[in-house]
Amino acid sequence: MGRAAALLGLSRLCALWAALLALFPCGAQGNWMWLGIASFGVPEKLGCANLPLSSRQKELCRRKPYLLPSIREGARLGVQECRRQFRRERWDCRAPAAGAPFGYELSSGTKETAFIYAVMAAGLVHAVTRSCSAGNMTECSCDTTLQGGGSASEGWHWGGCSDDVQYGMWFSRKFLDVPLRNATGKESRVLSAMNLHNNEAGRQAVAKLMSVDCRCHGVSGSCAVKTCWKTMSSFEKIGHFLKDKYEHSVQVSDKVKRKMRRRDKDQRKVPIRKEDLLYVHKSPNYCVEDKKLGIPGTQGRECNRTSEGAGGCNLLCCGRGYNTHVVRHVERCECKFIWCCYVRCRRCESMTDVHTCK
Ligand SMILES: *[C@@H]1O[C@H](CO)[C@@H](O)[C@H](O)[C@H]1NC(C)=O
Ligand SMILES: *[C@@H]1O[C@H](CO)[C@@H](O)[C@H](O)[C@H]1NC(C)=O
Ligand SMILES: *[C@@H]1O[C@H](CO)[C@@H](O)[C@H](O)[C@H]1NC(C)=O
Repeated sequence: MGRAAALLGLSRLCALWAALLALFPCGAQGNWMWLGIASFGVPEKLGCANLPLSSRQKELCRRKPYLLPSIREGARLGVQECRRQFRRERWDCRAPAAGAPFGYELSSGTKETAFIYAVMAAGLVHAVTRSCSAGNMTECSCDTTLQGGGSASEGWHWGGCSDDVQYGMWFSRKFLDVPLRNATGKESRVLSAMNLHNNEAGRQAVAKLMSVDCRCHGVSGSCAVKTCWKTMSSFEKIGHFLKDKYEHSVQVSDKVKRKMRRRDKDQRKVPIRKEDLLYVHKSPNYCVEDKKLGIPGTQGRECNRTSEGAGGCNLLCCGRGYNTHVVRHVERCECKFIWCCYVRCRRCESMTDVHTCK
């Protein structure tokens, strides 16, 4: 995918959404231009001025160009995890337009928007923190506040390199939140508050899922002494946590008040937690194609005939039924080692049924 195509796709889509939905002015979409970085070869070599960044992000980039590889890695992590978590869903976290990583969901104010913001903000924290722990940065390193601590009586002490997410959290806020803070108009004010909340929910997920790893020392693995360090969870685990938050996400009122409130009046007393994902608008069902919104629909998606859950033909095809094709696989099989020295195999053919939604 060329970078020109990526940028063109994004800006064209942006104009389209802006015209159709009257949600975000295109300038606010500029906040997402940074995703284009993921398709650049070596962004450090291009210089901040030539990268697809909003003006504030460019300013930050000029001050901290050494963070560009982490920004790129964070974008890659977020997009990949979104696709993994949603690969069996009607919305599969893919944009129909070539080049743009996301489509209509970026600005729709739905649960899907919530997930995208959270996972992208979390990806940035994860990538920056890993770079800190790897010793690649002068402004951050391992968590040094733990050094010397531990519990002698329980036979362990802090050692090694504990991940310190603070710098990553700070950078993710600076890079992603600051450009969102200046929304004008009623609709964009509520959406911008929602997006800011979900960015933070994503970052909090990284912090919340920190765990402790230990290594034993002592005579023949007796574990008389243990060294322990704090470590971030794998990004897949964080994605799974956020998917669960998505499934239990909270609809908030679109009336602009000092604070965001639940839309459900009976539930107003239940506080909104930092880690909840929030949305304003109900999602479309993603079943049928909608060219205007850029929703591809599920026709032609591969489904599982025997599953009643996500990815099953029943749910994925929205009751339209499915087609079955027979696909032939040819592979090497029954390989034998012949003395001396080669391997002889047979060619085996197998047929599998593949089901796709009507
Ligand atoms: C740290 O820097 C080295 C050399 O530039 C690079 O190869 C490595 O991927 C970086 N590690 C992280 C986690 O950013
Ligand atoms: C918000 O907009 C005002 C006026 O356009 C500008 O002066 C200010 O610097 C902006 N603030 C941020 C955080 O972008
Ligand atoms: C289809 O779903 C069934 C039941 O959930 C599962 O056991 C099977 O592995 C799935 N098949 C594929 C190809 O994913």
